[in-house]
Amino acid sequence: MGRIMTVDRISGSILQTQYSPAETLKLVALPDAVAPARAYCAATLRGWGFMDPDFLFDAELVVSELVTNALEVVSLGDRPRRLLEEGALIRLTLTVLADLLFIEVWDRVLRPPRPQCDVPADATRGRGLRIVADLACQWGYRYSEGPCGPDGKTVYAVLPVPAHPIQASKYLDV
Ligand SMILES: Nc1ncnc2c1ncn2[C@@H]1O[C@H](COP(=O)(O)OP(=O)(O)OP(=O)(O)O)[C@@H](O)[C@H]1O
Ligand SMILES: [Mg+2]
Repeated sequence: MGRIMTVDRISGSILQTQYSPAETLKLVALPDAVAPARAYCAATLRGWGFMDPDFLFDAELVVSELVTNALEVVSLGDRPRRLLEEGALIRLTLTVLADLLFIEVWDRVLRPPRPQCDVPADATRGRGLRIVADLACQWGYRYSEGPCGPDGKTVYAVLPVPAHPIQASKYLDV
């Protein structure tokens, strides 16, 4: 759970502290990890009080596209001896900050995502990031720093959350 502090500009005193819900799931990079990632997203958001079916649908779809991409680039394939290596994992993090949901997927591959601009009508691939861009108010990627330099990247998408989630106020400690 992240902490956001509001600080008085003049006195420097802390006016209020808010806790934002945040959860991370580590997944072994196997092709069938998409379904649990989607289920985790839906369960987590419902647990935070978000019941709007359209919002849950969109969030699950974005999770599905970002996790699928990460799984494809990590590409564990059928090499089970690498299952326990950190590089064979991806991480899905969900965070609600104010009225925004951050969906972040980390993988160890330094190559950046490359959204396709002109996807032919009959193409079967190349639409995932366009779907993400359509649903998100912002998306992008950033590199993560390890002890010896960049050790991976996080592709993220930001979705506006629907007004008045049923229980989200229980996470606010004002
Ligand atoms: N996490 C990532 N790391 C590195 N490259 C990525 C990542 N995600 C996407 N890409 C690159 O961006 C390209 C476009 O991704 P996008 O999801 O739009 O299409 P796709 O995965 O090729 O097809 P589709 O999602 O429609 O099945 C991918 O082909 C891949 O080369
Ligand atoms: Mg894709």
